Amino acid sequence: MKSKAFGLDIGNTSIKIASIRKDGNSLMLESVATAPSTPKGILSESIVDLQVLSESIKQMLAQSNIKNTNVALSLPESRVYTKVIEMPDLSEQELSAALKFEMEQYVPLPLDQVRTDWEILGKKEIQGKKTMDVMLIAAPLSIIEKYEKLAELAGLTPQIIETEVVSVHRALLPFINTPDSNVIVHIGATTTTIAVTQAGIIRIVFSIALGGLAVTRAISVDLGIDINQAENYKKAYGLNKEAFEGKIGKSLAPILESISGDVKKAILLFKEKSNEPIKQVVLSGGSALLPGIDAFLTNALSSQVVLGNTFSAYNIANVPNELQIEAPSYNVVVGLALRSFL
Ligand SMILES: Nc1ncnc2c1ncn2[C@@H]1O[C@H](COP(=O)(O)OP(=O)(O)OP(=O)(O)O)[C@@H](O)[C@H]1O
Ligand SMILES: [Mg+2]
Repeated sequence: MKSKAFGLDIGNTSIKIASIRKDGNSLMLESVATAPSTPKGILSESIVDLQVLSESIKQMLAQSNIKNTNVALSLPESRVYTKVIEMPDLSEQELSAALKFEMEQYVPLPLDQVRTDWEILGKKEIQGKKTMDVMLIAAPLSIIEKYEKLAELAGLTPQIIETEVVSVHRALLPFINTPDSNVIVHIGATTTTIAVTQAGIIRIVFSIALGGLAVTRAISVDLGIDINQAENYKKAYGLNKEAFEGKIGKSLAPILESISGDVKKAILLFKEKSNEPIKQVVLSGGSALLPGIDAFLTNALSSQVVLGNTFSAYNIANVPNELQIEAPSYNVVVGLALRSFL
């Protein structure tokens, strides 16, 4: 068993850390901190930018009094290749050989430039035919090495490096671990990840390069205002039809339509696979807080839409009120921190 690790989520707009503690049978938020992302962030190729980022992380650790140096990190979904495929029911050894072939087919990079991993999600038998769903994961070595370097600069040991959707899935598991099928829609600043789950298991997953940043840019261009003001208006009014004669809602509608179009695509793909209805859409990520997004998606998808709150999913104690309100933006980091307990 690995030692307990705290979660670190390096997003495009913010860096978050969280640490969870078990108190008897209940889980408790031990510490949490958030800071704005550094200007060049993790995507920069320069060591100087990584140093700036590591300094910011060190400060956050000091402020939140986290002494643990074991960290659980998530890789941005946009940089990782994730695919769920159906395979015959093979032994581990046979599967490993067969997946090498599948990886060559699905991963758009030479296999010596990626670290690959796979996980059996579940097995099933239909009309005597046994199959299993397997999640393939391939992350460019260059990205993993960058995260490892960052950890080293911050004086940390990465215990876990996983893809973001795995963290979000864990964060929301008690919500979706029922016989029904659900769709998780995680909308961050630059990326939206869509995952269809059946009986709690991910069956389909993909991500698109759209999120809250595109929404802010659209408002800024349409209303002729700067990015900071557009960001404030977005958070204050969202899809409100009265504010600014509905202009803000009109600027952001095409982006939300594009996202909901992809959610529909995921649902269709899932129905082709399993012919089962979707119970609900669970929203996650900072952009899940956009005023009116739930009503917009309920209408566009003709489905029930709920906010995915990891704190209430696990009944986590010691969560300040202001954090409860922003809960969907903490799903990745809390999902990472929960890894040590599940
Ligand atoms: N109250 C709010 N209303 C509307 N949008 C919001 C609100 N709060 C945060 N956001 C948006 O959510 C996004 C940030 O979400 P999140 O913290 O999940 O992203 P990130 O992890 O920094 O980005 P990424 O995962 O894409 O790298 C920003 O675009 C921000 O404008
Ligand atoms: Mg994020």
